[in-house]
Amino acid sequence: MKLISRLLVVFILVVSVDARSQTTNTTKMNIFIDALMKKMTLEEKIGQLNLPGAGDIVTGQASSSDIAKKITEGKVGGLFNIKSVAKIKDVQKVAVEKSRLKIPLLFGMDVIHGYQTMFPIPLGLSCNWDMQAIEQSARIAATEASADGICWTFSPMVDIARDPRWGRISEGNGEDVYLGSQIAKAMVKGYQEGDLSKNNTIMACVKHYALYGAAEGGRDYNTTDMSRVRMFNEYLPPYKAAVDAGVGSVMASFNEVDGVPATANKWLQTDVLRKQWGFKGFVVTDYTGINEMVAHGIGDLQMVAARALMAGIDMDMVGEGFLTTLKKSLQEGKVTAAQIDAACRRILEAKYKLGLFDDPYKYCDEKRAATEIFTDANRKIARKIAAESFVLFKNQGNVLPLKKSGTIALIGPLADATENMTGTWSVAADFSKSVSVIRGLKEAVGNEAKILYAKGSNLTADAAYEERSTMFGKSLHRDARPATEILQEALAVANQSDVIVAALGEAAEMTGESSSRTDIGIPDVQKDLLKALLKTGKPVVLVLFTGRPLTLTWENENVPAILNVWFGGSEAGSAIADVLFGDVNPSGKLSTTFPQNVGQIPLYYNHKNTGRPLPEGQWFQKFRSNYLDVSNDPLYPFGYGLSYTNFTYGDLQLSNTSLKGNQTLSASITVTNSGTRDGKETVQLYIHDMVGSSTRPVKELKGFQKIELKAGEAKTVTFKITPEDLKFYNYDLKYDWEAGDFEIMIGGNSRDVKTVRVNWSK
Ligand code: NOJ
Repeated sequence: MKLISRLLVVFILVVSVDARSQTTNTTKMNIFIDALMKKMTLEEKIGQLNLPGAGDIVTGQASSSDIAKKITEGKVGGLFNIKSVAKIKDVQKVAVEKSRLKIPLLFGMDVIHGYQTMFPIPLGLSCNWDMQAIEQSARIAATEASADGICWTFSPMVDIARDPRWGRISEGNGEDVYLGSQIAKAMVKGYQEGDLSKNNTIMACVKHYALYGAAEGGRDYNTTDMSRVRMFNEYLPPYKAAVDAGVGSVMASFNEVDGVPATANKWLQTDVLRKQWGFKGFVVTDYTGINEMVAHGIGDLQMVAARALMAGIDMDMVGEGFLTTLKKSLQEGKVTAAQIDAACRRILEAKYKLGLFDDPYKYCDEKRAATEIFTDANRKIARKIAAESFVLFKNQGNVLPLKKSGTIALIGPLADATENMTGTWSVAADFSKSVSVIRGLKEAVGNEAKILYAKGSNLTADAAYEERSTMFGKSLHRDARPATEILQEALAVANQSDVIVAALGEAAEMTGESSSRTDIGIPDVQKDLLKALLKTGKPVVLVLFTGRPLTLTWENENVPAILNVWFGGSEAGSAIADVLFGDVNPSGKLSTTFPQNVGQIPLYYNHKNTGRPLPEGQWFQKFRSNYLDVSNDPLYPFGYGLSYTNFTYGDLQLSNTSLKGNQTLSASITVTNSGTRDGKETVQLYIHDMVGSSTRPVKELKGFQKIELKAGEAKTVTFKITPEDLKFYNYDLKYDWEAGDFEIMIGGNSRDVKTVRVNWSK
């Protein structure tokens, strides 16, 4: 007892010393910023709110660049899309040596899924379900970016997306709000490590706030309109999770929310973000987000810039709406000096917290740049993380893993596609250093097996479509020969082989910004190629590249093995070889539903029941909520993914089926690796709130654990459930739980679960 009370005293002391030192730090910061702001002119304050793109600054010539004049005049708060210590040091020098108040600049970049060591695209990474691995990917990205001069990343992107037509679904974590929130936290932690004063942490920027992923028709930048109940329950939590994790900045989204663009939406940027959630950092617009509100139709540039500031926006990316109009708006009484001061203060606070006032060159250490970027150690981790993000859809007759012997025909436009391996948003990557599938396979087999290669087809029959899909240096080197000739060459290769690996799917830039599609199947010529390869009668493994859920009904019926590899990053080819040859047992699980066809979209696991649900086991009934031509089922459900081994789930055991108040429910299940290989399995917990004051989803993910099981091994997995897990926003937006019956479900995906019902009273 004595020991416990002594420990308690020590704990309280530590906490209060910590709290006190935080207060001292804040006081120090405030004193510093108060003094600085007293010296600032109005123009200099407005200048801090300006974030231009860097343009083409040449090393050693920053002071003569176009942007230098503005920096010297104190009209720039930060720059983005500039990298390398040499360049950043040069530009920072202009700010701290030539501008009147010597205020250092922020240097931001889209470090989205790695810096030079690239990890899988976020949608792929989210299928890893290992939060430590995801955090580690952000940690490595931060270390590399900060070693190259960057102190701020426009990541994590946490937009919930349920429409795979939308190209930017590739940049987020899929459809689920719980998984998305866990990933948001892990990413912020990885980038910031709770301490921005270190030289290897960078400030994160959660985006795109808010609802960007709910664009109508999957068309980028499009209108979103939804009830607040849906927002709070299904879309906003991942942004809030990032705020709770201490994210330093937030990016406003391009879209409108309830008829007011997010960039001018005071309810969103101030009432919810700052007042309700207590966000203390700064808000930046997206690229020309202010100017675009003219086209949205809510005013001219002066008006929309004023509206953005009044809504709570602090920094203006690229468009210079603030820089060119705020002074006039102040003179005309359209904004207040206090509003400009508040925004300026938040930018200065970020710079202070990053330690830039102490040392503006904190991220400009050439030695770090030379030794900490694209290291063997980082690449090794990226390879492991990539391999564990791949999702095995089908493996009929155990075609996989392949043997490292005989002759393997590697065919397809993605087989020798080095520039495409990193996927969308890989601005700092050196594509030539990525490992292609052909390189990965050849390195893996050495002299043990023969790898034959043929392209087999172009990406698409339409050359212009291929051009639009292979931008930013990610060419697939279109083959000018007639399609039949390219195909015949591939068939000749296929016929000499024991097994065919078909590397098909999308090009890297077929998803990402402004890359929406209406037909989300494997493109035409590639599908013809696949059909022809299957006709050879050889076993075919489809290695599928994609940045979105594709419609694969035909492929699922006809191809014996399908491994979805997303865009795995710089080590993609090696990671693919690891899985194809069984050195790594696949363990990825989908973070988003794969529909049977486009007409089913939006299709997501946590839908409502409706008043006319389909009876269990049926796929159509008249006057029920369904289609005449296809069932409501997805092709592959959320949470789905196979392994080279089998996992069997025992019965679901509950500590109690009748609970009261704040009790804790233990839900346990024994999972057995009943196959012959060691493997990893993500055990998923879902809850169905059966009766509510508002309708509730048929199930909601509430927990998961990724476990490792040796062949033959069994482990009992336990989830602790409290009323906290039952809470939701009701019709009045009150966040609480309601007494009643709940179904507790555990399984290896959202469809195949064991279920037990409990009653929980207040
Ligand atoms: C526009 C994109 O929407 C956003 O995600 C990105 O961070 C900015 N451009 C800056 O590149």
